[in-house]
Amino acid sequence: MAHWIFATHNPHKAREIAELLAGVHEVSSLADLDYHEPIPETGATLEENARIKADWVWERFGMPVFADDTGLEVEALGGAPGVHSARYAGEPADDARNRARLLEALAEVPAGERRARFRTVICLRDASGTHFVEGVCTGSIAQAPLGSGGFGYDPIFIPDDGPAQGVTFAQLTSEEKNAISHRGRAIRNLVARFLNETRDGAGHPVP
Ligand code: IMP
Repeated sequence: MAHWIFATHNPHKAREIAELLAGVHEVSSLADLDYHEPIPETGATLEENARIKADWVWERFGMPVFADDTGLEVEALGGAPGVHSARYAGEPADDARNRARLLEALAEVPAGERRARFRTVICLRDASGTHFVEGVCTGSIAQAPLGSGGFGYDPIFIPDDGPAQGVTFAQLTSEEKNAISHRGRAIRNLVARFLNETRDGAGHPVP
């Protein structure tokens, strides 16, 4: 069983992926390793940020690692906030202010033109090199927040694959959201391509 580091300080994300890989791969978060230094996210794209985080951990721990980065890409805004999603309304990062800024930016945009997608990129680094997978969830931005679950932009994101029309991520259970979300899809792609029982971290078949 290989031992991976998931380059996140977020225990919720680490638990989610450890559960998906249970019995096949062991996963430690940075907190599990008692590493609490923030990793600079200075990349201009999701790919760059995921790679910066994976390289950072690989260089310090020399252990196989994967790292993720997510952004909300809104068509009418040319793909913004994208890589800047966490700090769209400035420092410090604040979910409620980010949502308010996005609704304001789209105030004049009619319902049919509020297309958006969440995109998660995962970068995997081990002795064989650097590999990427992604997961996408398409949808649209609501006119006003709906629902109380989730985090971030959940109350204003209506996924195309939701259980009913007009339902936001914040109105779904976490199981319903994981089944269709960008992060759930990216993690399942990671597992299928690189981390299932029959493949090592480089995606090569295990003899
Ligand atoms: P991160 O790369 O996972 O930290 O995500 C960057 C930012 O994107 C977060 O601060 C959130 O604002 C937003 N975000 C990421 N995933 C989700 C999600 O599943 N729902 C809502 N917002 C999200």
